[in-house]
Amino acid sequence: MKIAISTGGGDAPGLNAVIRAVVLASIRRGWECWGIRDGFNGLLDPQQCTGEPVMRLDATSVYGIGALGGTILGSTNRADPLHYPVRQADGSVGEIDRTEELARLLRENGFDAVVSVGGDGSMAIAAALHDKGVRVVGVPKTIDNDLDHTFATFGFDTAVGFATECIDRLHSTGYSQHRVMVVEVMGRYAGWIALHAGMAGGAHAILIPEIPYELAAVAAAIRARDAAGHHHSLVVVAEGAEPVRGERTVLAGAETGRLERLGGVGARVEHELAGLTGKECRSVVLGHLLRGGSPSAFDRVVASRFGAAAVRALALGQGGVMVALGDGAIGTVPLSEVAGHTKTVPLDSDTLATARELGICLGDQA
Ligand code: F6P
Repeated sequence: MKIAISTGGGDAPGLNAVIRAVVLASIRRGWECWGIRDGFNGLLDPQQCTGEPVMRLDATSVYGIGALGGTILGSTNRADPLHYPVRQADGSVGEIDRTEELARLLRENGFDAVVSVGGDGSMAIAAALHDKGVRVVGVPKTIDNDLDHTFATFGFDTAVGFATECIDRLHSTGYSQHRVMVVEVMGRYAGWIALHAGMAGGAHAILIPEIPYELAAVAAAIRARDAAGHHHSLVVVAEGAEPVRGERTVLAGAETGRLERLGGVGARVEHELAGLTGKECRSVVLGHLLRGGSPSAFDRVVASRFGAAAVRALALGQGGVMVALGDGAIGTVPLSEVAGHTKTVPLDSDTLATARELGICLGDQA
């Protein structure tokens, strides 16, 4: 059997551990493994690739990569085969679906199956390839933890661990300076990273997209801390967190321009909390730091289990599925059930209940 591996979308710590596991588990079965560069661009747009567009992967190529961040295959979210960007005659950029062509190129290159590692976008591509007769197994990846049907995606644990370390550091500087420290973390429209890192790091307020926030509530919590003799506060904000309707009116005229230059929601919260509390506030955007670096031990193990499970699924004749972590064990879910389904923090989750019980302000109660 000749299989191709592709890593798509944003990178996440653990991608290399998946590649390593797929290659080693394939070699044990006597299969041949190849990596496609930059998502599927190695096949769709080889001249755009920085290295060999399609490369043979053997035990030597994956030696020692399990501990490395990023992906040796490269990845991109600018070349989604379902929405491939094309320049139109008038100079504007449109998009076309190139999955039919991709399925043909995979066949022409003699690939019997594909392991597609990625987030919801990659699972949608995998589902489209499956519909076009390609045997494909998906492997869930994202630091955001927003893929449905799996308890874990690799990358999340590493991101939460690093964010927690940063929050720990921000506590000591905030404490010394009697400041409000605001930390913005990634997560798209889901609050998993903010909630977990905020709780682990002992944040005093956590703002997530699932709960529209009122900064008046956060300011009241900060004032209450001050009154109790605690003159620093730490606020974690998910990048997708939104104020309740109308709250943004605090930002008038010229200030809006300044905030746009400063950045996103973290800068806005910093500015508004300074106005509401009269305290010195500072914000930090952790951004892509959360995606970089070496995967945690947990992510290395999950990624390895996912990679080996993908090969096992192919050996069992499966296709059109994503490997997923179920109740303690790895199983498979049909791609048709995964594509387009994302997972946000349930409002009735015990983690949210715990946050409230710990006295963490979630921005919804003044
Ligand atoms: O999906 C992972 C993620 O890290 C999100 O949390 C974030 O919004 C996004 O990628 C940023 O991606 P990029 O900067 O690569 O476009």
